[in-house]
Amino acid sequence: MTGADTRPGFVARGLVRTFTRGAETVPALAGADLAVGGGEVVALAGPSGSGKSTLLAVLCGWDTADSGTLTYTGPLAGRAPAELSWPELALVPQALGLVADLSLADNVLLPARLARDLAGAEPRGRQLLEELGLARIAERYPHQTSLGEQQRAAVARALVLDPAVLLADEPTAHQDRGHADALLEAIAAQAGRGSAVLLATHDEQAWHRADRVLSMRDGRLGEGAPA
Ligand SMILES: Nc1ncnc2c1ncn2[C@@H]1O[C@H](COP(=O)(O)OP(=O)(O)OP(=O)(O)O)[C@@H](O)[C@H]1O
Ligand SMILES: [Mg+2]
Repeated sequence: MTGADTRPGFVARGLVRTFTRGAETVPALAGADLAVGGGEVVALAGPSGSGKSTLLAVLCGWDTADSGTLTYTGPLAGRAPAELSWPELALVPQALGLVADLSLADNVLLPARLARDLAGAEPRGRQLLEELGLARIAERYPHQTSLGEQQRAAVARALVLDPAVLLADEPTAHQDRGHADALLEAIAAQAGRGSAVLLATHDEQAWHRADRVLSMRDGRLGEGAPA
């Protein structure tokens, strides 16, 4: 087994996803190729509507490509994305998806409850709430908090079980610079623990801090930040 095989990651080749509505067809993914390996942060840039969220939806198993291949690697080899659980693959959705009738703290710990490891994850949950400036408001419900606070809770929820793969859709979109940097720090630390990280982001600081930047345009990916 090579070193690369021991770390989680994924390889996607030729992903195509076309949405059809009546006579209209939208080629959201038009042959997207990418590979992300354990320990690296890859930033996914690209204009609104270029296919970033569609790509993340396919990578996490919320949606299925019409054609192309998606292979999880290392300890996740042979697994389909839809069967991966929170410790294996965590997502920060663009729409956040917090549970309305759970406090921020309970939202953050939800993956631990589902994994039946609440006690094990509590210290990490507390640490993330602290690092992301949420400790003081952790007992509030989402509707009693700002959008930026909700977004930071969604990132903490994704990180609480040390996921092997982290997919985050514009995780700094609702933040001031200071909180955005705290989020990027926490996300980089996750890659430092060996996770494969893919961030869809318009945040140029996130591009600068990433190990690599890919640009999406019209459903295809190229190397490097947009010009
Ligand atoms: N369910 C759907 N039905 C039809 N078209 C869709 C659907 N979901 C997305 N699209 C279209 O697919 C294209 C890609 O959308 P996507 O959400 O992936 O873009 P994005 O790069 O994430 O944009 P943003 O930066 O605004 O979040 C867009 O043209 C969008 O209108
Ligand atoms: Mg999007």
